[in-house]
Amino acid sequence: MKKLLIAFVLLVSLTTNAQQKTDAGTIKDKMQWFADAKLGIFIHAGIYAVNGIDESWSFHNKKITYADYMKQLKGFTLKNYDPVAWADLIQESGARYSVITTKHHDGVSMYDTKMNKLSIVQATPAKKDMIKPFFDELRKRNIKCGAYFSLLDWSHPDYPGFLNDSSRYKIANDYERWNRYRSFFQGQIKEINSMFKPDLWWFDGDWERSAEEWESQKVRSLILAGNANAIINGRLQGYGDYDTPEQNFPVSRPKFNWWELCMTTNDNWGFHHDNNWKTPYEVISIFVDAVSNGGNLLLDMGPKEDGTIPAEQVNVLKELGAWNKRNGEAIFNTIGGLPQGHFYGPTTLSKDSTTLYLFLHGSSGGNIMIKGLDNKIQDITVLGSNTKLAPKVVGKISWSPVPGLVYINVPQNVLDKYITVVKVKLDKPVKLYRGQGGLN
Ligand code: GLC
Repeated sequence: MKKLLIAFVLLVSLTTNAQQKTDAGTIKDKMQWFADAKLGIFIHAGIYAVNGIDESWSFHNKKITYADYMKQLKGFTLKNYDPVAWADLIQESGARYSVITTKHHDGVSMYDTKMNKLSIVQATPAKKDMIKPFFDELRKRNIKCGAYFSLLDWSHPDYPGFLNDSSRYKIANDYERWNRYRSFFQGQIKEINSMFKPDLWWFDGDWERSAEEWESQKVRSLILAGNANAIINGRLQGYGDYDTPEQNFPVSRPKFNWWELCMTTNDNWGFHHDNNWKTPYEVISIFVDAVSNGGNLLLDMGPKEDGTIPAEQVNVLKELGAWNKRNGEAIFNTIGGLPQGHFYGPTTLSKDSTTLYLFLHGSSGGNIMIKGLDNKIQDITVLGSNTKLAPKVVGKISWSPVPGLVYINVPQNVLDKYITVVKVKLDKPVKLYRGQGGLN
């Protein structure tokens, strides 16, 4: 009997180990397209575009009454919505995935939900679902489709939260009511999962409740049951696959396996009367910074109520796309670059680490330098112009293990108008000297 028990325990522990291994393996496999993609386009479409006010937060923070906020439903027309043009623009930018709001905190669904009547199909003159035609166009172009979904819903009568200083009830006092909300939001997740099969789920608003209250683990498994390879962002109280620092720029390299910086093009997610546009140079330099630190950029657009995209955002996407055409080799399918201290600027590496890409800011060119590179250089080219450059190794002492400094003179006439990439082909995977000089 004892033997049997031991055999049983052994079997169980072996299976769990094997299971964990396959899970880890599967996660790495399913995350690969995301790791290679580097650029995604975020879309905040919603009725807040009618007045051009803060998405959902404007009524929550009492800048406008709830009744006035909801009057925007009547002005949401999508009359010039052109999913083909949207997908073309996204493709032109070089992005490999796009994430669109299926429902923001205001509770207005952008698709034909059967769970309540608060959707653009039932409650606005647009009278149509905007998700399916968009995803269809993205998929035709091989661009992955992401669904943003707010777990919290400030409009739902069974959701506790409403305005920033009032709530409807306390969960501890009325579990039944909370259970009704749970079936509601999980029902919407099931709908979206089966109607649109998102490649990526982008949850938001998890901070208002705990993992137990959301039933995060159950939410994760119901998504994966219908859609085994779906990627889930990190806003599910600990049950996601990757991290999403928002509007924040890491200075040292984040430790997460996968991460994505989500960022607005002006200072707002939705269409807004806000002219603080980031320039194409600023967006490109932030993009390069994220990629060199092993992350992605999810760059946001806020379309107008009629479905058109503001000209400034179109321009940023086109400039980004043109830059990617010239320099994308250094971005897509690469891995994060050298640790700080070897080059005064961002870098990336080819997956096999035998090619090093150096990113040069500004338009000055001149002499750039790599420190502690313990490799032979086979070849140096400037992306875009394909100009060949020669290295000069300085200060290599025959008896010392410390590599010399590699200087590369980059002439003015090969510079990119935003950021120039110098491609350095190495003899073998990059090997770095990280010591303090001297004989060590
Ligand atoms: C925040 C905001 C939300 C926005 C999101 C995008 O969580 O609540 O309005 O949609 O960030 O990252």
